[in-house]
Amino acid sequence: MEIFYLGHSAIYFKGEYNILVDPFISNNPWVKEEFDFTPDFILVSHGHGDHLGDCFDIAKRSGATVIAPFELAKFCSMNGAKTHPMHIGGKFDFDFGWLKLVNAIHGSGLITDSEIVYLGNPCGFLWETEDIRFYFAGDTGLTMDMKLLKPYKIDYAFLPIGGNFTMDIQDALRAAEFISPRTVIPIHFNTFDVINTSPEEFTRKIKHRGMESIYIKPGEKLNI
Ligand code: NI
Ligand code: MN
Repeated sequence: MEIFYLGHSAIYFKGEYNILVDPFISNNPWVKEEFDFTPDFILVSHGHGDHLGDCFDIAKRSGATVIAPFELAKFCSMNGAKTHPMHIGGKFDFDFGWLKLVNAIHGSGLITDSEIVYLGNPCGFLWETEDIRFYFAGDTGLTMDMKLLKPYKIDYAFLPIGGNFTMDIQDALRAAEFISPRTVIPIHFNTFDVINTSPEEFTRKIKHRGMESIYIKPGEKLNI
């Protein structure tokens, strides 16, 4: 499987099934080249523009199924996407493996020119595919609920580290200790000034705590 990190929270998992997470592409300053996405599934953690991104266009073009919290999924349906609505704590068996929605402490309003469309609760995603377990935290503050993830023996945990809107390095280190995954990968940093931080410092500190950590540079990929 190949994991393409598109920068910010956008990640493309290319494997037996292709899964695109938080498809912030056209306004994503990290995305320098055209990508030819052919996702089978698109996971959207919440309605903020830097996560919902190009979801509708990519979903319509590819025919991918959008998996999201109920209200957000319904909103995607209204905008022409094929969807599979779920909610926090719910687990479902998909063709690629199982997936569960987990808690994220954040908002989920879509900001338009004149109003805010509230789209329910934000979420994180926990899933297993090809015998590999992933946790994508989405945008979230540090929460005790992360302790519930430890028994899942997660292989790859994607944690936001940029601060201001989400956990910063210090909180993400505590999150990693709660979750105890095999490998920690930082996301959601350096896209905007207010979330500037050092992913190198984060990976160094994670390793210092006895866990593996990989910093995938935006635009680069990891083969697993
Ligand atoms: Ni957000
Ligand atoms: Mn965000």
